[in-house]
Amino acid sequence: MGSFRPVRVFMGNGLMLTDGPHGIRRQPDEHNFGIGESLPATCFPPAVALASTFDAALVRRVGAAIGREARALEVDVVLGPGLNLKRSPLGGRNFEYYAEDPWLSGRLAAAMVEGIQSEGVAACAKHFAVNNQETDRLRVSAEVDERTLRELYLRSFEHVVRSARPWTVMCAYNGVNGVPASANGWLLDTVLRQEWGFDGVVVSDWGAVGDRVAALAAGLDLQMPATGGRSDAVVVRAVETGELPVEVLDRSAERVARLVERVASGPAAATDPDAHHRLAREAAGRGIVLLKNDAGLLPLDGSGSVAVIGALAARPRIQGGGSSRVNPTRVDDLLDALRRRLANTRVDFAAGYPEDPGVDPVALAGEALALARRAGTTVLVVGLPEDAEAEGGDRTSLALPAEQLALVEAVAAVTPRLVVVLVSGGVVDVGPFDDRVPAIVAGWLLGQAGGAALCDILTGDVTPSGRLAETIPMRLEDTPSALHFPGDSGTVRYGEGLFVGYRGHDALGQPVRYPFGHGLSYTRFGYSDLEVLVTRHGVRVELLVENVGERRGREVVQLYVGVPGSSVARAPRELKGVAIVELEPGARRPASIQVPWQELRYWDVATGRWVLESGPYEFAVGASSRDLRLAAAVSIVGDEARTPLTTASTVGELLADPAARARLSEVVREKLGEETAEHVVGESGWAVMMAAFPFGRVAEWPGLDLDPQDAAWIVFGDTGAGRPR
Ligand code: BGC
Repeated sequence: MGSFRPVRVFMGNGLMLTDGPHGIRRQPDEHNFGIGESLPATCFPPAVALASTFDAALVRRVGAAIGREARALEVDVVLGPGLNLKRSPLGGRNFEYYAEDPWLSGRLAAAMVEGIQSEGVAACAKHFAVNNQETDRLRVSAEVDERTLRELYLRSFEHVVRSARPWTVMCAYNGVNGVPASANGWLLDTVLRQEWGFDGVVVSDWGAVGDRVAALAAGLDLQMPATGGRSDAVVVRAVETGELPVEVLDRSAERVARLVERVASGPAAATDPDAHHRLAREAAGRGIVLLKNDAGLLPLDGSGSVAVIGALAARPRIQGGGSSRVNPTRVDDLLDALRRRLANTRVDFAAGYPEDPGVDPVALAGEALALARRAGTTVLVVGLPEDAEAEGGDRTSLALPAEQLALVEAVAAVTPRLVVVLVSGGVVDVGPFDDRVPAIVAGWLLGQAGGAALCDILTGDVTPSGRLAETIPMRLEDTPSALHFPGDSGTVRYGEGLFVGYRGHDALGQPVRYPFGHGLSYTRFGYSDLEVLVTRHGVRVELLVENVGERRGREVVQLYVGVPGSSVARAPRELKGVAIVELEPGARRPASIQVPWQELRYWDVATGRWVLESGPYEFAVGASSRDLRLAAAVSIVGDEARTPLTTASTVGELLADPAARARLSEVVREKLGEETAEHVVGESGWAVMMAAFPFGRVAEWPGLDLDPQDAAWIVFGDTGAGRPR
């Protein structure tokens, strides 16, 4: 037992931590319960919209702006980004998370961390780990196999920690394979610190710590919120009794001291709310996804009148509910933005459906239909209500509210020129009207400048380039996690394993409504001259992209990699890179995507390491996961270790080794005769059956009846003495 020494950290005026992730939620009274009004700050697009930009450079700029506002509001730690995967479209906090894919999630979250920390403010990568649902979130244990953990749920965190070096990480509420994340030494110490080299502070999620001593021992540094000194006293006692080695406490205190040193001190520069609002508008515009646009209905050409229908057009929903809620500096709405932009066009408005319960929807719908009949083009804004998407609860369906669905149907019946704009923090089911509405725009939750950004897209001032960071399935039941979400009795089993999102849909060859990576433009792009080059550091993919349409636009070129003959289960293709190319009409430019070796490795459960498998790999580039334009295969020499043969190896494994095969054939032919030997070493149905048996067991069977020396010679070969006689 070590003697208790006073902790060396003096925190001065303390550290101020606030949410996060898409703006600053700084409460004027830091000692209140943690819920309530906060000081005005720019409400940037929540992660759902930022992710649809696929644009790490843009996310970095947003992060830096959040960092600047944090400094101005005397905030030291921003509690974001959130980078848990969208395992199910029902996830209640999907609006706060980036994607169903770990590559995309990791790249964008790393950019956010870099941006925030470039201003001397700590970012906090959360919620570590496997926090993919809200149901029973404080107690549920996520049961996940090791390969799925490594390749999906830990992968985006690993990338962020290794490449962007966040100064803090927040542990999740839930358990992982039976151990609460807050007291999970394997997660917080073995993986995070020892393997990935994290040298920052692990902060608990609010109220996640059940046992502070166990948490400290596991690697958690800062319990939040404070407990009025009670849990400190428990820690002191644990050190005094020897339950907790004082060195553990010292190391933790040093990490907190390092955080205090890392965050910037001194006066901050004033922020520019107008510039940040413009950035919020730019980011929102790039995150809007044009799902369909039959006969080029969009952009609005300004020639006829426009009917704007939908309460959400005038009173927008800009973010989800819960701890991430920012008090915006101002809010743009679509109706006002369209009226200003189309000053010479008649723009009429009808609410169409009630904002509040109790209002008669029939009268509202009647007014909307009358407008739609008269208008040149109708823009109908529908979406999920405020309480449908909030921290603490998962959604139970993908459906839009019934009165809104009825309205879409009724409006579609009176006008063929209908644009539906969707407002939601996650996937909604567009199946009921997909074939009756010519243009559909996924307008997510877009932050405070979302109304103006939607106007930019609808009028063509900005050409859409947003892409789906999550699949829109045909039906909720098709979602790979559907049978295993959200679990029960305190457990959720990740039964779909590696096959989350598009990985599962592709593996099953299922049709989807709109695939991962999908998003249309007002212009068109051509792909040519694909080259796949094996380099020292990985694989470099090069191609030419040409704008073959009539407008300036941005193409999000996506690279998917598959390993067709893999010896382990794999999705048919996985996103491994993105290149964004902005081009004038007629212009052509090379795009290049570098894939480091690490991205091509799988987690080998037997040896507990990342393995690059030898064999052919297919590299395909395209405009979505299901719109692949060019593909090329290259053969890669991997680094897999050959498992040494033993008597427990199967007959099949021995036969796969040329030398062992020769030895086995020789002995089997001698003992059983040519014809029967064929049943073991040949191609017959018997041989297929025999291949599965461990050799040591078969060796003793009557007829073969090998003595141990003969059996060992077959497996290990000539160890000096030659074949025993
Ligand atoms: C949320 C965290 C948040 C924290 C502080 C928790 O309930 O899960 O994401 O940062 O509260 O508000």
